[in-house]
Amino acid sequence: MLTRRSAICFALASGVGTLSDIPLSRKAAASTDNEARWWKEAVVYQVYPRSFQDTNGDGMGDLPGLISRLDHIQALGATVVWLCPHYDTPDIDNGYDIRDYRKVNPDLGTMADFERLVSELHQRGMRLIVDLVVNHTSDEHEWFRQSRSSRNNPYRDFYIWRDGRDGGPPNNYPSFFGGSAWQLDAPTGQYYLHYFARKQPDLNWENPKVRQHVYDIMRFWLDKGVSGFRMDVIPYISKPDEMPDLSPEALILPEYAYANGPHVHDYLQEMNREVLAGHNLLTVGEAGGVTFEQTPLYVGSDRHELDMIFHFDLAHLGRVDWKMQPWTIPQLKSMVIQEDQSGGPHGWAATFLENHDHPRSVSRYGDDRPQGRIQSAKALAVLLLMRRGTPYIYQGEEIGMTNIPFSSIADFEDINAHGIWKTTVESGAMDATEVLPDLRRTSRDNARTPMQWDASENGGFTTGKPWFRVNPNHTEINVAHQKHDPQSVLTFYRHLIALRANHRTLIYGAFQDVDPSHPAVFAFTRTDQNERFLILINLTGEPQNYVLPMTARITDVLLTSTSNPQSPLPAELPAWHAGIYKIEA
Ligand code: GLC
Ligand code: CA
Repeated sequence: MLTRRSAICFALASGVGTLSDIPLSRKAAASTDNEARWWKEAVVYQVYPRSFQDTNGDGMGDLPGLISRLDHIQALGATVVWLCPHYDTPDIDNGYDIRDYRKVNPDLGTMADFERLVSELHQRGMRLIVDLVVNHTSDEHEWFRQSRSSRNNPYRDFYIWRDGRDGGPPNNYPSFFGGSAWQLDAPTGQYYLHYFARKQPDLNWENPKVRQHVYDIMRFWLDKGVSGFRMDVIPYISKPDEMPDLSPEALILPEYAYANGPHVHDYLQEMNREVLAGHNLLTVGEAGGVTFEQTPLYVGSDRHELDMIFHFDLAHLGRVDWKMQPWTIPQLKSMVIQEDQSGGPHGWAATFLENHDHPRSVSRYGDDRPQGRIQSAKALAVLLLMRRGTPYIYQGEEIGMTNIPFSSIADFEDINAHGIWKTTVESGAMDATEVLPDLRRTSRDNARTPMQWDASENGGFTTGKPWFRVNPNHTEINVAHQKHDPQSVLTFYRHLIALRANHRTLIYGAFQDVDPSHPAVFAFTRTDQNERFLILINLTGEPQNYVLPMTARITDVLLTSTSNPQSPLPAELPAWHAGIYKIEA
């Protein structure tokens, strides 16, 4: 429901853009702790290009397809596009295995298409950030081809090579995709390290030449007009000293052992000095394995490393790897609170509920059945967009796309899902019926089905055979249906983003959970010197008799997800109700 007041805000937001007025230059801007920065005010829209829009009928999304859909992203109110890897790749991990960092993946288009994407975005007052995947390359990258060819090749030291131990790998490091993180390479009889797939050898960041090559790649894309980077698994670039075996406890969550290596901050500070400083960029690190306590080291503006990082504590709530376990709403809230505080006095947070590595949020934290889907998607939108931090929306989240029903392992495409299957079912350790239900709920493939544009065959994604199945519910859940529907999830996202753009308090204002232990309702405030807002979210499918544990005189109802004409603050919050209220400061 949109009230009159917020309707006015919305009209203002879509008229004179706030962010679009900021010049797109990369001029130096001194950073002080609470200084307003364009990337704090940004709303980022993540595009997984192969699944976004196909234009040539080969079943693979492409850059011309993305360009053709920029109006959708702009109308949503997003100001930045994060493009998942668009580089030349053998594609064993959907582009996170890069063969040539300076070449556009021909399946996605050409360099001319990329340049057109940048200029089309700039014409709209929007910006582009690209994925920087430099913990590892593809094994087909020229550096690795050289490196593996002989022990004295000048590129040998670009990767991490060790002798085996007792006829096996050098230590017990596991790969995130199953099996050992070491691969014996026949030509030289040594093992190379790969935290991810065998075809993703880890670079040796201790070698200054490697670092200089990375910086050159970054400059190359900055010269093309990109406004920043999302840095893939960046806390893993510095490897543990000596690399002893992991303890049995550490083996359960190896990301904590792999992250925060002894030189990671030296490298990031060097990267900042050599490349980032002096440009007005957005940098966000993917930071699995970084605890809340360690966060200021990465994001403190006094540290000159990154602007913000993605934490995975919320994404991993109630999950151990691919297995689901029960979780509670107070636990969820506690993750949000800790994350909000984690940057420390000089830091800033990145917030997200979905990305290409996680299931759909409405299936994960909401209710994807007909009775709850629309309302829970709206409640989650409020959680994502009304917190403090730069929000990242993943393609399809804005229409409430759901997980896809998989019936057997053959339906999965992801290298990770197949790795899990190999080590559990194929190894004989577990029965398929023990693995499949959880894998279905947690698989990364859930996020990778094609974008649902309309109700036509293949959801308007392609006229050919899609590279991956389109969710059968595209006939019901799609952009075309929602675009002009005032009650739709998409319309609600637009209103929320406009509201955020119009109230600096909703961007910069302090965040406070006013009822952390309530088992169902998330009640928090956003406050600065001028204004105060109360945000109420019923995170369940049951109505809640709710008594706010503070006095708050509501002066305006800005936006609510369920209609509630009688009173601004109902005694009973309907199922999945979410509302933004202005209160007396
Ligand atoms: C990151 C990416 C993921 C990829 C992995 C290896 O976690 O988000 O998709 O598989 O890194 O590059
Ligand atoms: Ca295509």
